[in-house]
Amino acid sequence: MRRKLIAGNWKMNGLKADAVALAKAVFEKFDSVANCPFDVLVCPPMNVLGYVADVPHTSVFVGAQDVAETTKPNGAFTGDVSAAMVKDLGATWTLVGHSERRTYHNETDAVVRQKTENAINNGLTVVICIGETLEEREAGKALEVVTRQVRESTPAIANATNCVLAYEPVWAIGTGKVPTTADVAEMHAAIRAEVAKNLGAEVAEGMRILYGGSVKPENAKELLGVENVDGALIGGASLKVESFWAIAETQL
Ligand code: 13P
Repeated sequence: MRRKLIAGNWKMNGLKADAVALAKAVFEKFDSVANCPFDVLVCPPMNVLGYVADVPHTSVFVGAQDVAETTKPNGAFTGDVSAAMVKDLGATWTLVGHSERRTYHNETDAVVRQKTENAINNGLTVVICIGETLEEREAGKALEVVTRQVRESTPAIANATNCVLAYEPVWAIGTGKVPTTADVAEMHAAIRAEVAKNLGAEVAEGMRILYGGSVKPENAKELLGVENVDGALIGGASLKVESFWAIAETQL
């Protein structure tokens, strides 16, 4: 039985005071749930990652949104933050390969795979993001694109404990549009089958596959009820404790 994961990606939002206030509110809310049946993760931007990780919490994981591509823990890589540095700040997770990184920073599957490997080698648990563009979906290439991303972005050392996949159709991110539940079911089944091909049936069975893209309190129950959907990666609605909680609450 896969434990669901409710994950918030704060993206480039959060000055120090706001981020710490949001973290306090989220931690207080989730830490008060006895025997919570799902995992919770928040991924603040790098500027506040350490401050957020330092806010006392017991049941919520804190993650970065990215790590450097270089395998070196430090060195002449201006602007980069290594997986070792992320770990040092107190984070235990990281996202990699978000479509906004793939689009605005030209991150290829090979880059995403290297970043994932670096993160895992530094003891971080990784959420690898994948998803097709509207153009690719309209051209009938969604399954082909996403299974290729799964195959080429996931390193051989990935397993069900150190790695989670997040299917985020690019056209559903921040748009209020969501795929049909049939499309989500088809894609998640294809992703799990691809993982089985690459990493074996046992890893595939245990690996969590999240859905992301315009997840809101109104649609969370339906999306999270789709077969092979093991949680949500939430952008906008994770920036307010009320909406983040309202999504999570559908899983209690
Ligand atoms: P929204 O929930 O704002 O659509 O963002 C989804 C996302 O990109 C999470 O990583």
